[in-house]
Amino acid sequence: MSDVFSAINGRTSANNFDPTHVMSAADITELANLANQTPTSFNQQNWRLVAVNSPAAKARLKAAAYNQPKVGDAAVTFVVVGIVGGHTKLPALIKPMLDGGHIDQAAYDGWIGMANGMYNGKEQFQRDEAIRSASMAAMTLMYAAHGKGLVSGAMIGFDPAAVAAECKLAADEIPVMLIAVGNPAPGNWPRKVRRAVTEVLSFSAD
Ligand SMILES: Cc1cc2nc3c(=O)[nH]c(=O)nc-3n(C[C@H](O)[C@H](O)[C@H](O)COP(=O)(O)O)c2cc1C
Repeated sequence: MSDVFSAINGRTSANNFDPTHVMSAADITELANLANQTPTSFNQQNWRLVAVNSPAAKARLKAAAYNQPKVGDAAVTFVVVGIVGGHTKLPALIKPMLDGGHIDQAAYDGWIGMANGMYNGKEQFQRDEAIRSASMAAMTLMYAAHGKGLVSGAMIGFDPAAVAAECKLAADEIPVMLIAVGNPAPGNWPRKVRRAVTEVLSFSAD
């Protein structure tokens, strides 16, 4: 079985974290760097992470997350932030590819033109894209944590306005998910059951 298969089959959500575990900034950055390899539509990279790891900030974030203990106990909780309208930043984001000769001017202009055509004036779609990208990054982050022998716990149980205020998010930013990461404490549940694959998968008609 490949490392990827064993990560997919081995990851579980943790509820109990070792409250004495402290992660270095370098280790937190390594996880963020792995998450940063997540693909996004048009490579617009319309998401970012806020790492909440100091005791005071963890206590404030915990209050905003309906006092879920794992926010206080985990070494770090990442706020995965989606950015609405991220396609507008594409000209600068993909300029290094033009400058490096990886794409020509026509490809550069076409790339930006297609993205503008797809997203301009469609706020709900831009918001959907922000949530899509942030969710993809959240999953990468959880597998990155698993790969480092850590456990993780995703959370949507939080007050979005309070988390946005705590993280000083801009008006075009959405707190999409919290991901607690750290060492486990005893008592975490084993892997939970899933539906049969026959319920999940259907094949298209000819
Ligand atoms: C988007 C999302 C939001 C979640 N929110 C919470 C949460 O707020 N609190 C919590 O304890 N678990 C939360 N979970 C964990 C799920 O309950 C858990 O992933 C699910 O039961 C499957 O378990 P597994 O991850 O161990 O396979 C969340 C998971 C996801 C993917």
